[in-house]
Amino acid sequence: MGEQLEQEIHRRRTFAIISHPDAGKTTLTEKLLLYGGAIHLAGSIKSRKTQRHAVSDWMEIEKQRGISVTSSVLQFDYGGCRINILDTPGHQDFSEDTYRTLMAVDSAVMVLDAAKGVEAQTKKLFKVCKERRIPIFTFVNKLDRFGKAPIDLMDELENVLGIRSCPMNWPVGSDGRYRGVYNRQTKLVELFAADETHGQATRTSEKYALDAPELRVALDEETYQALLDDITLLDEAGEAFDEEKIACGELTPMFFGSAMTNFGVQNFLEEYLRLAPPPAIRASSDGDIRPEDERFSAFVFKIQANMNPAHRDRLAFIRIVSGKFERNMSVWHAASDKEIKLAQPQQFLAQDRQIIDEAWPGDIVGLFDPGIFGIGDTLSDTSHKFKFADFPVFPPEKFARVQAKDTMKRKQFVKGVEQLTQEGAIQLFRQAGAGIESYIVGTVGTLQFDVLTYRLKSEYGVDIELVMQPFEVARWLTYPDGRAVTPESLRGADRGMFVYDRDDRPVLLVNNEWALGWITDNNPTLELHPVPPDRKEI
Ligand code: G4P
Repeated sequence: MGEQLEQEIHRRRTFAIISHPDAGKTTLTEKLLLYGGAIHLAGSIKSRKTQRHAVSDWMEIEKQRGISVTSSVLQFDYGGCRINILDTPGHQDFSEDTYRTLMAVDSAVMVLDAAKGVEAQTKKLFKVCKERRIPIFTFVNKLDRFGKAPIDLMDELENVLGIRSCPMNWPVGSDGRYRGVYNRQTKLVELFAADETHGQATRTSEKYALDAPELRVALDEETYQALLDDITLLDEAGEAFDEEKIACGELTPMFFGSAMTNFGVQNFLEEYLRLAPPPAIRASSDGDIRPEDERFSAFVFKIQANMNPAHRDRLAFIRIVSGKFERNMSVWHAASDKEIKLAQPQQFLAQDRQIIDEAWPGDIVGLFDPGIFGIGDTLSDTSHKFKFADFPVFPPEKFARVQAKDTMKRKQFVKGVEQLTQEGAIQLFRQAGAGIESYIVGTVGTLQFDVLTYRLKSEYGVDIELVMQPFEVARWLTYPDGRAVTPESLRGADRGMFVYDRDDRPVLLVNNEWALGWITDNNPTLELHPVPPDRKEI
């Protein structure tokens, strides 16, 4: 198997596309699928909204709100490569899910709107990629319309994100009105061709050598001279292409194009596949796990319920780290210390799910989950028991007291709330001294409360009563000598709410940083942690 394993690893590319909403992530994803032959006609401008639902929005709530709540996974082949794209929702309320998705990729494509440059959500997502030191490729989108000067965009990347860029192509045009791009490798100029299909079909465009007389005819003299000047400037003063710097996320190859009109998309895809890394090694309790290790290993990075009304079930998404995955194989599940059989593994192509028989490092597989999996769980060969490093977690910032409206439904309520906690959608706390029928739920954004309400109703038949709490800060509490922190041992515990997390660790919820300062000042030996003390904060 060794040789096949190596070949399969070598041709895998697993990545996420990150962007601020509306920069064009969905459009670019669609176009990559189009070039991969996975869909024949990308959604036309008019039908794009419906098409988008068909491709990646599974949950009803997503349709209602017109935003993508859950991440999807798409797989296709191009030029001998097997590509896994993990879609990350851009909405800020769903950042936790997005961040977890980024734990499962080997590189990222950052899409910027040429007119807007680096935006708020881009910054947040970029930070996670940078911390993971994964290669980041930049696609500056919407070149078919007015945009910022490319030099200014490069400056923005450096000043706002702290990453230097190396343009792989360069817009042709002046004052933000572009005519095409110059490819720095082939040294050819590609001009926008008239597009009669609104980007529905892949297309070829006219290419010219820099000194071709036809190019000078096609461009006006001023634009042509400006292009020559830019090229000289880039060659002399620009950051040199450096694969090592790209590999560790210090330098980003930069591409210009237009996803909507397909301009520059194919070239981007091909260069990306050439430069992007195959599946990487991962740290674990047993040292680094190499993808070439024949013993299977994987981790759960996402749990999703009821993705499709036609299949009412719960799926755990695993990212394969090493070895070969086979249907019906038995593996060791570190969290429960049990051997389990992996039946019904599924893979995804656009909206279709199919049962698969085998998969390789870098691949994402959806496993039917009877309720045993949690985020970050390790699965490994039964002869090789270890754990991958825990995922970092988010400090919760929004809190609500939640209970079932109908006390007869308490059992379903508890089951639903527990399950959503295990999925990582919410964090669960219990107030000191209060009954368990009412919980305090913590999230990173208010939209998750809508998801909670919706899912408890649709999946567990429970209507809930939700009362928002005024707290914005949670702190896990410890004393340096290991003594238990109790409400009585704390000065000012009544200035916030004293709760326990699922593992019975004490946590104080307070209104703001000011209140937190008061607690810190008045309890000099107390240690306060924004996330559980054994976890890393995102
Ligand atoms: P997102 O996933 O990052 O949120 O962005 P999405 O692809 O949904 O694109 C957001 C909007 O930008 C869409 O317009 C889309 O058509 C447009 N767009 C994407 N790529 C390009 C491009 O290269 N050039 C131009 N000019 N526009 C682009 P919309 O009006 O919101 O949606 P729709 O009515 O077109 O479906």
